[in-house]
Amino acid sequence: MTLKGSINASKFIAFATALTAGACYVIFRFKDRRNRERRGATSPATKLLYKYKQQLTLTPSQITKLDSELQGQIRAGLKAEITTNGLHMLMLPTCVSQIPNGEETGDIYAIDVGGTNFRVKYVRLSAEKSKIESEENFEAPIPKDVMTGTGSALFDFIATRTLNFIMAHEGGQSLEPPLVGFCFSFAIKQLSFNRGILLDWTKGFTCSDVIGHDPVQLLHEAFERAGRQCRVMALLNDTVGVLSAHRYLDQNTCVGIIIGTGTNAAYVEKIGSVKKWSAGPDVDPNAHTIINTEWGAFDSSSLPRCEEDWEVDAATIHKGKYLFEKLLSGMYIGDVARRILLRMARDPSCILFGSKASSDPLIPVALTTKEGFPTSALAKVVEDPGMRPETMARILGVATMSVEACDVVSQVCHLVAERSAQLIALALCAILRHTGWVQNPEGPLTVAFDGGMYEQFAAYRTMIRKAVDEFLGASLGAKITLELVHDGSCVGAAVLAAAATLEHQN
Ligand code: BGC
Repeated sequence: MTLKGSINASKFIAFATALTAGACYVIFRFKDRRNRERRGATSPATKLLYKYKQQLTLTPSQITKLDSELQGQIRAGLKAEITTNGLHMLMLPTCVSQIPNGEETGDIYAIDVGGTNFRVKYVRLSAEKSKIESEENFEAPIPKDVMTGTGSALFDFIATRTLNFIMAHEGGQSLEPPLVGFCFSFAIKQLSFNRGILLDWTKGFTCSDVIGHDPVQLLHEAFERAGRQCRVMALLNDTVGVLSAHRYLDQNTCVGIIIGTGTNAAYVEKIGSVKKWSAGPDVDPNAHTIINTEWGAFDSSSLPRCEEDWEVDAATIHKGKYLFEKLLSGMYIGDVARRILLRMARDPSCILFGSKASSDPLIPVALTTKEGFPTSALAKVVEDPGMRPETMARILGVATMSVEACDVVSQVCHLVAERSAQLIALALCAILRHTGWVQNPEGPLTVAFDGGMYEQFAAYRTMIRKAVDEFLGASLGAKITLELVHDGSCVGAAVLAAAATLEHQN
């Protein structure tokens, strides 16, 4: 064996030892949990955990009811306008009459507003089919006071940053106004391909004087104030963007899902089925369009919920609305887990944290504020099923922690993440039943995903995959590919803006 080989061998042995030790620890934790459950099925923490498991795990009868209610809301929403009260899927037509096919070309700037971050991206779509030639990005967090201030302050924020990026990219100012695709990730009643009306705010945005107005017009006015006009060719939702971005690459893509700060889905629908939208006399009713479902606004008494879900809702700006989103998305689920853990921590009979000898419960500092236990912390816990108590103690801001408490935190986080994944899968399957693909799967189907929760939380992606396979059966599930599209909303905005530009030229 060479020296290099022996170094590799020793590294390999060290790696294998670490791996074996890790695996042994996970097995030890599971065995320990089982023993504790056997011994202490009546321990207050186990009892409380059991109650949450019962409340948050979908039963077969809930699955059947929810599937039928989801399909009912889909049908009703395609037939007639739905009142925007944040409690029904809106099923919004997008005015897309040409689904992207990879032949879109051009130099486009895409703007994405609607999550924690504002993004602008330059994209060159090549003349060669389905090829993105170059890209350049700018990203900045949207300050809280901008999210909750005036509409003109929000649009000034967007316009000035977009123009700064364009100037830097162009290296001067070209004569032609830049072409823009505008992804505005809220419920929009689309008046045309590049005009619409904001129906409602979500995700903590409350800017004044925007609901009931056209975001494209507000953006044009802000560009004017900032001293340079751009041509906004397309206005779209982020789900429509992610679907279009992946459809540009793969024609089997029929659904686009966002699971980040908020959640939503768009899917490909037959124009003739959208009774509430008149696409015009020349449009073939068998041709396809894209529908923005706004599934975050779905609600049903059959949803698996606990008291803490209502507390999370009560603490939001949009109380009583978008309740499905509040069970699922990144802005909320860390807070649900935190509130469950806080309740357990406060329960004097549990004494989850701190010494059992003391009668005063110890409340970990991280559990006392929403910011203390964000969804990223929940993800960290779920990603590491054998997390050691020292690591968990650091996340929660306590000095030490028992194996049992560590296990309880881990199970609560897992429970909340799994409920989210199952509901996403259930709503996706309802869409696929509605379109008839489940009953008659003519070919493979791709679902495109984007959003921080999907992108940065691998265990969560696995949970969605597993739930889809469980709901549809393994052989049908195998025909569905779930694909992550990085920066899907921006790329989709560029693709749709390019399609609109080509249509104008012809
Ligand atoms: C909005 C949707 C959006 C989703 C994901 C929801 O709060 O209502 O329009 O697609 O968030 O960003």
